[in-house]
Amino acid sequence: MTPTHAGHATRYPAEFLALTDTDEKTLSVLNGSCVFAEPFVREDSLMAWEKSRRFIVEALHGDGTIVDYGCANGYLLRCLQEWSGSRLEPFGVDNHPGRLNQARAMFPSLAHHFLDPAELTESRIFDYVYWAVGDNVDFERQENQNWLALVRGHTAPGGRFIMGFYDTPEANQRKLTVLRARGTAFDAVLDNPAGSGEMIAWVDC
Ligand SMILES: C[S@@+](CC[C@H](N)C(=O)[O-])C[C@H]1O[C@@H](n2cnc3c(N)ncnc32)[C@H](O)[C@@H]1O
Repeated sequence: MTPTHAGHATRYPAEFLALTDTDEKTLSVLNGSCVFAEPFVREDSLMAWEKSRRFIVEALHGDGTIVDYGCANGYLLRCLQEWSGSRLEPFGVDNHPGRLNQARAMFPSLAHHFLDPAELTESRIFDYVYWAVGDNVDFERQENQNWLALVRGHTAPGGRFIMGFYDTPEANQRKLTVLRARGTAFDAVLDNPAGSGEMIAWVDC
């Protein structure tokens, strides 16, 4: 184990730190997570990433399986494993073949855990389902309500369905209002205390 990452005193495994130990690798990992930092300064960009995502661990209250629906290159899952202090068994779903292959490479021994949405059988359930919904997903539309039911349906009984919102605080609130009006009863809503505008909301199933 070697110390520190993005200014935190936590000790991380060398293998985790090695994912971002050069500018080139850091840029590749962040871009593979759909984060395009401008200007790119390695330590600052990593710090900004961590500030924008670390608060998600507040919703992860124990060990279990977790699927990131829209997992990109799997780096969020890998970070949540380190940040949460819980033993998380990672699974990912993504419809972008290139990013899905990057996720398989991030977890070589668990490559079979990373699936195209069409490969995720309806009956497969997880202790945590995390879905960072795209800014353009309008939950007034019935097709997106159907999608929501489908993704949420992968949550195990006693598990937690967590939605992530990365738009502006106003847009995130509007999305929450529509979701509630259309029947989603959230058990908790958490604004990112690090103050980058992100929000998560979850339902205990
Ligand atoms: C912004 S990234 C999210 C990465 C990570 N989950 C996070 O929260 O930082 C969104 C990912 O969702 C994927 N995605 C978009 N539409 C999707 C769909 N219909 N089914 C599965 N994945 C989808 C994209 O390919 C992309 O990799």
